[in-house]
Amino acid sequence: MADVETDVLIVGSGPAGGAAALLLSTYGVPNIVVTKYGRLSDTPRAHITNQRTMEVLRDAGIEDQVIAQATPQRLMGDTVFCSSLAGEELGRLHTWYTHPARQADHDLASPSSICDMPQHLMEPVLVDNAVARGTALRYQTEYLSLEQDDSGVTATVRDRLRGDEYRIRAKYLIGADGGRSKVADDIGLPMVGQMGVAGSINIVFEADLTALTAHRPSTLYWVLQTGSDVGGIGMGLVRCVRPWHEWLIVWGYDINGEPPDLTEEYARRIAHHLIGDDSVPVTIKSSSAWTVNHLYAETYQNGRVFCMGDAVHRHPPSNGLGSNTSIQDAYNLAWKLRLVLNGTASPALLDTYSAERAPIGKQIVDRANRSIGETTRIFEALGLLSTDDPEQLRRNMDARKLATPAAEKQRRELREAIEFKNYEFNTHGVELNQRYASSAVLSDGTPAPVNPRDDELYHQPTTWPGAKVPHAWVGRGDQRLSTLDLGGGGRFVLLTGLGGEPWVAAAAELSVPAIVIGPGADYEDIYGDWARLREVGDSGCVLLRPDNYVCFRSADLPAEPGAVLRSALDRVLHPSAGVSSQPA
Ligand code: FDA
Repeated sequence: MADVETDVLIVGSGPAGGAAALLLSTYGVPNIVVTKYGRLSDTPRAHITNQRTMEVLRDAGIEDQVIAQATPQRLMGDTVFCSSLAGEELGRLHTWYTHPARQADHDLASPSSICDMPQHLMEPVLVDNAVARGTALRYQTEYLSLEQDDSGVTATVRDRLRGDEYRIRAKYLIGADGGRSKVADDIGLPMVGQMGVAGSINIVFEADLTALTAHRPSTLYWVLQTGSDVGGIGMGLVRCVRPWHEWLIVWGYDINGEPPDLTEEYARRIAHHLIGDDSVPVTIKSSSAWTVNHLYAETYQNGRVFCMGDAVHRHPPSNGLGSNTSIQDAYNLAWKLRLVLNGTASPALLDTYSAERAPIGKQIVDRANRSIGETTRIFEALGLLSTDDPEQLRRNMDARKLATPAAEKQRRELREAIEFKNYEFNTHGVELNQRYASSAVLSDGTPAPVNPRDDELYHQPTTWPGAKVPHAWVGRGDQRLSTLDLGGGGRFVLLTGLGGEPWVAAAAELSVPAIVIGPGADYEDIYGDWARLREVGDSGCVLLRPDNYVCFRSADLPAEPGAVLRSALDRVLHPSAGVSSQPA
């Protein structure tokens, strides 16, 4: 007999565990979170919160709470490359879709905006809402081990206040225990890659840097100096935590040498070095060392145990994908657990979590690591790789100011190298084009759409099964909603148009809400965008999963829409056949 029982035990209260708890509680699934420490994250770490994550939080009903605390997009993107904040500016790049051309892409893609939400502010929003909706949270509780059998998982945990151990019995367990995941180790997830590729230091400090930053508002200020290409994330970084008085420096160290002694004096020296003005008052709040990793799990599941977040994808912060991907992992798994636990779906549906999310994890680990390497082009253009002599470095950098053909070439190379960093700071496609292939997605026989633009940089909206539903504004009376707002809420939803009414009757038989979009129908296609994006005819349909991914579509009305829809839903929910309907 275990001491405590629940449906889902979640190990970890970071972005992955917090989001899993929030979503499961939103769906009414009993869950317990155990977390090792007596607090949530005490440092800002993750911050870039992309549109897809904001869509997840919007569906969970907490988007407004995040917006209320986050730094908005308009203060995020005048990204600076400089010799120090007070020193010479080498160039800027519009990042996070703030270039006017990219702003249009951003605004067209989603009802939600990218924002900067530091992790120590995000975690309480996730976890407080989870607890308010039913999650039982146990601080100071360390996961020690697990055993699983045909009907559940028994985990042994230690209460770190009392020192005693007890057992928690759950039907499923989620390991969201971060980059040193014991759960992933214990279930033997196959890992590919390497930990400890480079050494890095975070320094959190307070300083009023308004005069050096507010006129070029950005989340990131990149500093190129002697040694700033050693280890770390490719360059020295001064990151804005709260405009313009709280900051986080990321500075590398040689992982093959001695780790730095993180005294307050050392941290202050680096801060002043990157600010470029020793007279600026600086209050060091914390400093810590961490390593850049290049590692991903090939599968995320073993039996009744699933892992998510950094437990299964470990990579540097470049591209800002870590906590975003962690929250999106949770969004993928939570509705599947709900439907399996309430008997609507077969357990085989849970296998699609790994099939869908593991390829994404590999993609983002590789993308983030590639971004570090691509920074070298900026150093090369400035002649900073050819010498360690500070005087020579100064001369190499100054050479670009001359009126010579060589200097013109250098200026061009620097412009191109900075422009190339779009692959780190403007990867709309990486963020929004994540396609799923699994038994929970039914192909309609059409080939995957080819993105006419660069698939990493640009979002391509499509209703191709396995893609997230395109965003279009639809209206009813004075209400304006996104197509994403029509879906979500833990339900399958069918979208159709005029002439597609038989789909509505068919969906009703299966307890699936159906919405007709068209003149005089449930919602008006106010700008005509949905008709342009939906890739099916008026009488066709698009079936959305609870995570707003398209799992089935039909170009038009078949002879027997009822049988077609029933078969489609059955195949998604019961990969090995059966009859299903969605609970009310
Ligand atoms: P995370 O490590 O956050 O949480 C693990 C949880 O498990 C913790 O609550 C821990 O206490 C708990 N735990 C561990 N072992 C346990 C045990 N045995 N028993 C019980 N509990 C246990 N990402 C992003 O999306 N955008 C960004 O801009 C950035 N920027 C960024 C900058 C810097 C400097 C860093 C270092 C990292 C980022 N990231 C990022 C990455 C981001 O911080 C990271 O991907 C997420 O924190 C991962 O969330 P998880 O919930 O998976 O793990």
